[in-house]
Amino acid sequence: MNFIPINRPLIGEEERRKVDEVLESGILTDATHQGGKYVREFESKCRTLLGVKHAIALNSGTAALHASLIACGVGEGDEVILPSFTFVATANAVVACGGRPVFADIREDYNMDPADVRRKITRRTKAIIPVHLYGYPAEMDELREMGGRQSVSVIEDAAESLGAEYKGRQTGTLSNAGCFSLYATKVITSGEGGAVSTNDEEIAEKIRMIRNHGMVEGSDTRVLGYNFRLNEINAAVASAQIDKLSRFIRTRRGNASFLTDQIRGVSGATLTQTAEDRTHVWYLYTLRLSKNRGKVLDRLRSRAIGASVYYETPVHRTPLYSKLGYSKVRLRVTEEAAAHVISVPVHPGLTEQERGHVASELKGALREFT
Ligand SMILES: Cc1ncc(COP(=O)(O)O)c(C=O)c1O
Repeated sequence: MNFIPINRPLIGEEERRKVDEVLESGILTDATHQGGKYVREFESKCRTLLGVKHAIALNSGTAALHASLIACGVGEGDEVILPSFTFVATANAVVACGGRPVFADIREDYNMDPADVRRKITRRTKAIIPVHLYGYPAEMDELREMGGRQSVSVIEDAAESLGAEYKGRQTGTLSNAGCFSLYATKVITSGEGGAVSTNDEEIAEKIRMIRNHGMVEGSDTRVLGYNFRLNEINAAVASAQIDKLSRFIRTRRGNASFLTDQIRGVSGATLTQTAEDRTHVWYLYTLRLSKNRGKVLDRLRSRAIGASVYYETPVHRTPLYSKLGYSKVRLRVTEEAAAHVISVPVHPGLTEQERGHVASELKGALREFT
């Protein structure tokens, strides 16, 4: 059995054809305000999929977060509340615009705990960033209500959750701005890439400026911006991928329920139950183990399964954030989760045989070690 990675991009003829079109056109990128043909094509598909007024393509999910924070007015000394149980990019984007991350704890479903957010809001809070971790929607109603009441912006980190729904609405459309990633492992990918969705005209326009050195027409830099442009090759891949999103998600859901059926009755591993008011896109299939995570990981890896831990080190425990003064922060549920979770492959590229192999090895390892 070949090694089965935790995630792998599914690239087909459609992507190849589109990339060929770009290469033949000779226009590999477009530094105008509105972006190139494939950027606009991808943005238009994004708008339709999400049902929003604006989608702005950028060259990473991190750029999407960074630009959204600036567009929502986050600057020097502003506090931004976010989970520590996330990919470090969520916090780095806050630091990059001069903000001060304030880490809130999570709940049993690994998403930010609104009660802890409420405790941590101060006069200096400028934004809240819920992360829909593993592709599972966070408790948006309470977070949005807090944001609205305190005139605090809410920016969703939907890097892992494209296509997931909360109360019938897409994640990334439930706040001032939603940030998506098109990184190689994500639900759809362009290798590197990202997007912001928003219904707010002013935020959309600011993000378009920030994406392109603050320019609107020619070299008329009006605000501080960066090169956050998505190039045409990546945009062409993203445009082909977004057409396949619903198929990818269907397959992920099928794989997830297969795994869940196979390990039913095995004690020592807990899977978050999907609440009735939301849907999961299973970017990652994650279990909480009662004990012996290292042994389970070693066993699975020795059997060619790319089992992994997201996230072994919560952001506040990384060397940089310790240096930035977070070493005394205690987040009980976050630290507990970081020490006990494990993710196994659930991606749509799994063959039937690979899926069966993941399930039976997982079941065997759980029976033996937990
Ligand atoms: C939760 C989360 N936030 C932000 C990012 C950053 O996205 P990117 O890698 O596209 O910059 C990622 C993915 O890498 C992520 O998983």
